[in-house]
Amino acid sequence: MAQQTLHSRTAVVTGAASGIGEAVARRLVADGARVALLARRRDRLERLAAELGPNALAVPADVTDQASVDDARRQVRAAFGRVDLVVNAAGVMLPNPVDDGRIDEWTRMIDTNVTGVLRVIGAFGPDLVAAAAAGATADLLNVSSIGAHVVFPNYAVYGATKAAVTQLSAALRAEYGPRDVRVTSVEPGLTDTELGSHIDNPALGPDGQLGAMFDAIGALSPADVADLVGYVVSRPRHVNLRHVVVLPTRQA
Ligand SMILES: NC(=O)c1ccc[n+]([C@@H]2O[C@H](COP(=O)([O-])OP(=O)(O)OC[C@H]3O[C@@H](n4cnc5c(N)ncnc54)[C@H](OP(=O)(O)O)[C@@H]3O)[C@@H](O)[C@H]2O)c1
Repeated sequence: MAQQTLHSRTAVVTGAASGIGEAVARRLVADGARVALLARRRDRLERLAAELGPNALAVPADVTDQASVDDARRQVRAAFGRVDLVVNAAGVMLPNPVDDGRIDEWTRMIDTNVTGVLRVIGAFGPDLVAAAAAGATADLLNVSSIGAHVVFPNYAVYGATKAAVTQLSAALRAEYGPRDVRVTSVEPGLTDTELGSHIDNPALGPDGQLGAMFDAIGALSPADVADLVGYVVSRPRHVNLRHVVVLPTRQA
């Protein structure tokens, strides 16, 4: 069991139904925080909350739906009070050649990966500012991707959404930093999660381009990324890791 370094913290983690978000939620609870688990799949969240105990709360929510995010905020407030740690991990990755004109996928990625992050910041940002003003440590962590910087064929729109998240995180330091709210962009490389399971082009999915990448370079585990998040949020209050890139050793 890790040290209980986060025992006074109250967190919201989006994307907590699987992958990196789930691993981050596990890590934060293990480190002593109370954690609200947000994602759409209620069954997954309730199972995880039951496993993690009273410091975890299942809050089914869709970050593409403003009313759903508003409702999640009300539920979190009622159960846990003010939040001082927000991890935006909800995301979708839908690669296809831009020539295919998949506006359905473009819209879904932008709504989830960019506007969804903004909705969550809109809902919980005021809590972070208030927590910091009261002397608490306050963190906003946005899970971006190495795809914000490195180009991959067929990933233009996904990469663009992640570049937006990285830039948003950097820019928000200018607004939040002076009020003692830390902002961190976490950029993982290839990580073994469900993210590729929504790819509808077999040539690009786990049996195609994506699978070949896993074969060539291996992958991080979600727990590897969560370990980094645990490190970032447990630094002294005046120390802000602004931009953290974590890759499998074989990924250039
Ligand atoms: N895996 C990688 O190689 C990798 C690398 C770099 C960055 N990332 C980023 O890491 C983050 C987490 O992805 P992952 O790899 O852990 O994949 P994942 O296992 O598919 O996790 C994505 C999570 O987002 C949730 N989600 C999706 N749409 C949502 C919505 N509209 N509202 C609320 N929750 C939603 C999903 O739960 P529900 O379906 O239940 O809503 C799921 O829990 C993403 O932002 C991804 O871009 C991943």
